[in-house]
Amino acid sequence: MKKLLIRGGKKLEGSVEIVGAKNAALPLMVSSILTSEKLTLTNIPHVSDIANMANLLISLGIAVEMDGSPQDFGSQGRVLKFDASKISNPVAPYELVRKMRASIFILGPLLARMGKAKVSLPGGCAIGTRPVDLHLKAMEKLGAKIELHGGYIEASVDGRLKGAEINFEKVSVGATENAMMAATLAEGETVLNNAACEPEIIDLANCLNAMGAKIFGAGTPRIIIHGVERLGSARHRIISDRIEAGTYAIAAGITGGKIRLIGPEMWIMTGFKEELEKAGIVLKQVSSNEIEVSREGAVINPVSISTHPYPGFPTDMQAQFMSLMAIANGASTIEETIFENRFMHVLELVRMGANIEAHGNISVVKGVKELSGAEVMATDLRASVSLVLAGLVANGETIINRLYHLERGYERLAEKLISCGADIKILY
Ligand code: EPZ
Repeated sequence: MKKLLIRGGKKLEGSVEIVGAKNAALPLMVSSILTSEKLTLTNIPHVSDIANMANLLISLGIAVEMDGSPQDFGSQGRVLKFDASKISNPVAPYELVRKMRASIFILGPLLARMGKAKVSLPGGCAIGTRPVDLHLKAMEKLGAKIELHGGYIEASVDGRLKGAEINFEKVSVGATENAMMAATLAEGETVLNNAACEPEIIDLANCLNAMGAKIFGAGTPRIIIHGVERLGSARHRIISDRIEAGTYAIAAGITGGKIRLIGPEMWIMTGFKEELEKAGIVLKQVSSNEIEVSREGAVINPVSISTHPYPGFPTDMQAQFMSLMAIANGASTIEETIFENRFMHVLELVRMGANIEAHGNISVVKGVKELSGAEVMATDLRASVSLVLAGLVANGETIINRLYHLERGYERLAEKLISCGADIKILY
């Protein structure tokens, strides 16, 4: 299994391309189910979750075509074309769903387009139990019959889904996206209350509206959808990945270097920009789509955070921020309010000499002067990148096992860091 070997201590200098957002691309790809006409998505990131989603859609009978080649990191290789005119098989098998929980997003669009769906229940996940009850309740509200058999969700509806008022008990990105997509083809009006407001939801709504949907209020807790008979074709550019941008911002700050992020606008840093600045990281928009990141002083200031749905501090930046706080000039607390088991990186960072104690959903981080390299284990996507960030500043060598976690959501991470002067090798 591939591993990453990092020799720490280098200040990073250079520029990094920030690609399209994985968490926008996945539901956008699924939205192709809703139309029998072509959907073209550009700025596609080359990460393994995208390949998994493409395979799932192909298994449903959707034609998926890439413009350039997978090796083409120019704009062409970032274009996927979808044609669901011959969709035939509304089934998502366990084999595909267990690889990627986002497979659950197909439930709503399949119900709306084909009136039935059989989707494997996604199993457990390293960061939490992650039930899908809010997705199922939303589909039932829209008139679907939902049954669970042998680990599968079997859903069906007579005729079209019916518009309804849905009050989410909890803010859920995925359930908001699933219900919003399903409601585009429902009869009448749907209102989603306590909806998630993430930028990825705005991006999805913009694409659906370009396909002919009538969605209002995406990005606010109250979304209104007027159902239409059918959707058409569209060409849509995926927004930049704010979590990838935030990760490289911390790479610049933690090494005391300077990195230019190519692609994003400053607004996508909402939710964590202030905390980075309080820690001593400087973010400057130097052109319409370039942000320069550097560190102000010699030390990193301790900053306590608590994760929350957007526009709060994103849980997907929590682990990376913990690595920064591990070498801060003082103590901080990190509270995780979204997922109940998202501190798997704590003991791995402690193996690298960090002074962190986790008590339930709060970790107390006492900054240390220096970290030391060690062999560590990646457990999930964001935990693995927090170990990379720690390895960049640790004395000596860090070896990170289970690289596949990283490849799910970071495109060419090692290559990008090496281009900024990091001493990294991929061990096969
Ligand atoms: C999305 O997951 C992201 N994934 C996650 O990113 C991200 O961490 C999460 O939103 C929160 O921002 C994608 O977009 C593909 P939720 P999602 O539904 O939609 C509970 C990464 O690292 N809940 O907003 O699955 C749930 O257990 C990934 O890129 C229910 O109880 O997250 C959690 O505690 C990791 N019942 C909370 O709500 C449900 O039916 C928020 O989850 C659904 C969710």
